[in-house]
Amino acid sequence: MPATVIVGLQWGDEGKGKTTDFLAEQVAMVVRYQGGDNAGHTVVTGDEVFKLHLVPSGVLYPHITSVIGNGVVVNPATLIAELDMLTARGIDVSKVKVSRSAHVIMPYHVALDRGNEARLGEARVGTTGRGIGPAYGDRAWRIGLRMEDLLDRAVLTDRISRVLPDKNLLLGAMGLAAMTVDALVDQCLAWGRRLEGYLDDSTWLVQAALARGEHVLLEGAQGTLLDLDHGSYPFVTSSNPVAGGACTGGGIGPLQVDEVMGVMKAYATRVGSGPFPTELRDEIGAGIAARGHEVGTTTGRPRRVGWFDAMPLRYAVAVNSISSIMLNKLDILSGIPTIRLGVAYDVGGRRVEHWPSSASAIADATPVYEDFPGWDAPIHDVRSLADLPENARRYVTALEELAGVPIVLVSVGPERTQTIERAWRPMRHRGGMARS
Ligand code: IMP
Repeated sequence: MPATVIVGLQWGDEGKGKTTDFLAEQVAMVVRYQGGDNAGHTVVTGDEVFKLHLVPSGVLYPHITSVIGNGVVVNPATLIAELDMLTARGIDVSKVKVSRSAHVIMPYHVALDRGNEARLGEARVGTTGRGIGPAYGDRAWRIGLRMEDLLDRAVLTDRISRVLPDKNLLLGAMGLAAMTVDALVDQCLAWGRRLEGYLDDSTWLVQAALARGEHVLLEGAQGTLLDLDHGSYPFVTSSNPVAGGACTGGGIGPLQVDEVMGVMKAYATRVGSGPFPTELRDEIGAGIAARGHEVGTTTGRPRRVGWFDAMPLRYAVAVNSISSIMLNKLDILSGIPTIRLGVAYDVGGRRVEHWPSSASAIADATPVYEDFPGWDAPIHDVRSLADLPENARRYVTALEELAGVPIVLVSVGPERTQTIERAWRPMRHRGGMARS
């Protein structure tokens, strides 16, 4: 399976880092295709915990080329800090490649993101404050800077001189300090000097790997319900985490994708504002949050927690053409007497089984639940589905039936080895999945 896309089926934080890490041995290249340092991937290997924001988690394997694709927005300061952290911990970063075309998150993007959120008050999106929206906005407006521009003083001076007066007007209106062209150009050149050796033409890197028949993993950040087009706008991020984003942001065509693996948790979480029909505001939710360490990797904010919701799942399976699923954090539900599973919505007395496209319709939705008896026994050491407590197996089967796609990996703990792997033969979505 030369090209596999890994995509989040919920609101991000599904544990995609563990999925990538689990598959890494068979993979030659891991490509991040969208987002920026708003993301956080936590990878646990033995006693070591790595928290990565920009560099794909494949970097922990010496045989893997880790690519930051053209669809990513890069804060060079974060990238340099991450490369330094990895190097200090003995990880070889010489195979990290950054697209020359990836856009740069500038200091004014970060300031404007935070200033705008403050201005929105109660209506804020709850962004990570990393400048993601303003950077993608400038990209769409064709006034952004790309990574290759960091190498050229004349280009930097010209571009920054053109945009900065408008940025400073906005910063001033938000009560924030103005920035100067000279300081920004100097900062950019320093970043460029430091990162020059990592810059590459990522599209051709990916295409060459595929031509050699190597297995390329395209790793999405955030999740389907935070997608700019498919999420509950405006409570979304500013890029396309869906599998289609892997094509535009990774430099491959749709027919080059062999498998789209969806990643989901056994319950739901969401960070930031926006509708979340199955949200739990009681001690069951607090218990799940505590056991699942549901705190944002990037912001340290507590994540909102809720029961698993099949509405967004069905939608995510459809818009991503999901061909297999990894289910994470099943172990966190151990000990809960009754596990609820959202199977439909009640909207004004009407049963709805489709994820509504409008955020206001979702806000009015009351979940319809199916209840499942829980299980008490810890499941960290279970390595086959047959050895799970019967009630856990029933819950997994119900999720699989709702998705209509095989759950091929089930995570029962943070370690790479704490994973149940079912025998499966990956195939293109159109052919369906065969399980042996
Ligand atoms: P932004 O991506 O920082 O602009 O934030 C937009 C929305 O996406 C906010 O609700 C954030 O909390 C959410 N978000 C961004 N990145 C992540 C992530 O990696 N995990 C979960 N939520 C995220």
